[in-house]
Amino acid sequence: MVAWDLLRMLISVTVVTTHAQFQCPDMAPHCTCSERVAWWSLQLDYVKLKTVNCSHNKLAEIPDLSPLSEVSFDVLLLNNNNIKHLKRSNFANISVTEIVLRKNPLKQIDTDVFQDLADDLQSLDMDSDRIKIDSGLPFLRGLHNLKVLDLGYNQLKNKFKSFPPGIFSGLNLKSLRTLTLQALQMSRLDPGTFQGIENLEQLDLSFNFLFEFPKEVLTLKNLKDLKLFTNDMGQLLNNTCKGLTKLRQLLIGVNEIEFIDNAAFRDLDNSIVELNLYHNPLYKVPTEAIRNLTKLQSLSLVKTYLNEIENGSFVGEYKLKELHLDLNPDLTFDNEGMFYGIEDSLEVLYLRSLNLTQLPLDVLTRLEKLRYLDASNNAFNNIDKHFFKGLHLSNIQLTWNKIKHVDHMAFQDFHKGVILNLHHNMLSDIDFILEVEACTFDEVLVTGNSIKCDCPLEEALNSGRVAWQVVGECYVDETDNRYDFKDPSLMKYLHTKCPKTSPKTSCFEAAPVSASEHLKLMHFLYLLWCALI
Ligand SMILES: *[C@@H]1O[C@H](CO)[C@@H](O)[C@H](O)[C@H]1NC(C)=O
Ligand SMILES: *[C@@H]1O[C@H](CO)[C@@H](O)[C@H](O)[C@H]1NC(C)=O
Ligand SMILES: *[C@@H]1O[C@H](CO)[C@@H](O)[C@H](O)[C@H]1NC(C)=O
Ligand SMILES: *[C@@H]1O[C@H](CO)[C@@H](O)[C@H](O)[C@H]1NC(C)=O
Ligand SMILES: *[C@@H]1O[C@H](CO)[C@@H](O)[C@H](O)[C@H]1NC(C)=O
Ligand SMILES: *[C@@H]1O[C@H](CO)[C@@H](O)[C@H](O)[C@H]1NC(C)=O
Repeated sequence: MVAWDLLRMLISVTVVTTHAQFQCPDMAPHCTCSERVAWWSLQLDYVKLKTVNCSHNKLAEIPDLSPLSEVSFDVLLLNNNNIKHLKRSNFANISVTEIVLRKNPLKQIDTDVFQDLADDLQSLDMDSDRIKIDSGLPFLRGLHNLKVLDLGYNQLKNKFKSFPPGIFSGLNLKSLRTLTLQALQMSRLDPGTFQGIENLEQLDLSFNFLFEFPKEVLTLKNLKDLKLFTNDMGQLLNNTCKGLTKLRQLLIGVNEIEFIDNAAFRDLDNSIVELNLYHNPLYKVPTEAIRNLTKLQSLSLVKTYLNEIENGSFVGEYKLKELHLDLNPDLTFDNEGMFYGIEDSLEVLYLRSLNLTQLPLDVLTRLEKLRYLDASNNAFNNIDKHFFKGLHLSNIQLTWNKIKHVDHMAFQDFHKGVILNLHHNMLSDIDFILEVEACTFDEVLVTGNSIKCDCPLEEALNSGRVAWQVVGECYVDETDNRYDFKDPSLMKYLHTKCPKTSPKTSCFEAAPVSASEHLKLMHFLYLLWCALI
């Protein structure tokens, strides 16, 4: 994993707001207009969304939007208000693709409310709106272009808390692909729940009280992503996912699953990429159940009460790239064969909150492709020169430990371009940066430590030895006056005491191999800058 991938991960949900281009016409004083730039995580791409924001305003009704009839815009935010009644005239004569109405105490929704938006509306968020779902959703009729619908945190009034049949049938919701039915206190789904919306690809049933895998879901043959976390399921029997041959992601954490039948995931053999079993009392790796999942890349066994992982636990048809083993307090690393089967594929490993005092190098060094290691929240107090011996990591997350000292020799076998995150440790200096080979690091993060603002720090920050940046803050005296490393007055202060260090190294020239990564980075920064001005 390279810096660029991480940066992309970081910005995947970043939305930059700028107010320059899109002005509201004279209209309700409670709304503001802006043009948001939304960055998409996987493509280096963004879209500009013209947004009318009437949210968080204690509005008792929807303001007169008719001045917007001549304006084309994308998103209308009406969330977090006190709106009780939705009627057709509210949205007459406007054209908008996304409406957010969440968190309003709706009492009356006229059945023709969205009629004038039938051709335009693609996304509707009616989460937390006190909608009584049993009474039907006739106001959705005719929204033939609606792709995304959020009905989470609303109400089921029947005494079994079951999701009633036929609620979506006959509404002509033929484009619907993404549906959220989170937190409805739902205990089951009646046969016929998904009539009329059989083309769903994303379904969220999390935070309910489902005590078994809902069979109705098996009618959704195109389903790609299924969220079932935080329910009450106790076991996964053979053929649980029968016919879901397109399912890529199954998130089934925070249930009571003790038992997974060997053929529970049959039919997912050639589709499932991500399986999350977080916080279930499994006690062991479900070796047989996952054995034939040829596409499986990411597996979470966080908080599954694992102790020893036997040699052979991960023998299967998959090439696992990412494994999460956090929060298994009894997990031991004594069995050197614990990762046998994925030793030549695993790239990303999470070992957080395991009370580790040193890395289990005997096992980790067997992972030929390991690049990203997150061992945050453990009990490390020192990075000595053997700490990473035999590893070649490019991204190291060691936040929330008790590390006081970092030996620069620990990094001597590393390739250039490492990201090191030591947020919230007990460092008092970052002198290791001055001793380590220049350009070893792309980025060093040391926020949340007690680093002194002194001359070695000045040198570490200005020497150019870290290719991209050092992020953190330092303190001047016991008054706890802290400077962010980026604060220009820090350098003013330091240069009253120390000579000015000028960069001796340029990592861009020194590291021709990673030049393309840096180019991509620069390109990204350029686009970000364009979006901001
Ligand atoms: C919309 O406006 C409200 C109230 O001014 C503000 O709190 C909120 O952050 C804004 N939302 C967006 C997405 O700009
Ligand atoms: C919508 O536009 C029509 C014609 O432009 C106008 O007669 C009507 O009053 C408008 N409706 C609303 C609710 O503004
Ligand atoms: C996995 O594949 C093997 C070989 O094709 C087969 O014998 C076995 O029954 C399969 N296991 C499951 C759980 O489907
Ligand atoms: C589940 O399927 C496996 C593999 O086909 C079989 O060995 C096992 O007996 C089945 N379990 C039950 C409870 O039927
Ligand atoms: C794990 O088991 C495999 C197959 O039985 C064996 O080849 C390998 O040497 C074992 N690994 C360790 C570290 O014992
Ligand atoms: C962590 O390990 C230490 C000894 O290494 C032990 O004293 C302590 O209780 C452990 N903490 C937890 C939360 O398991």
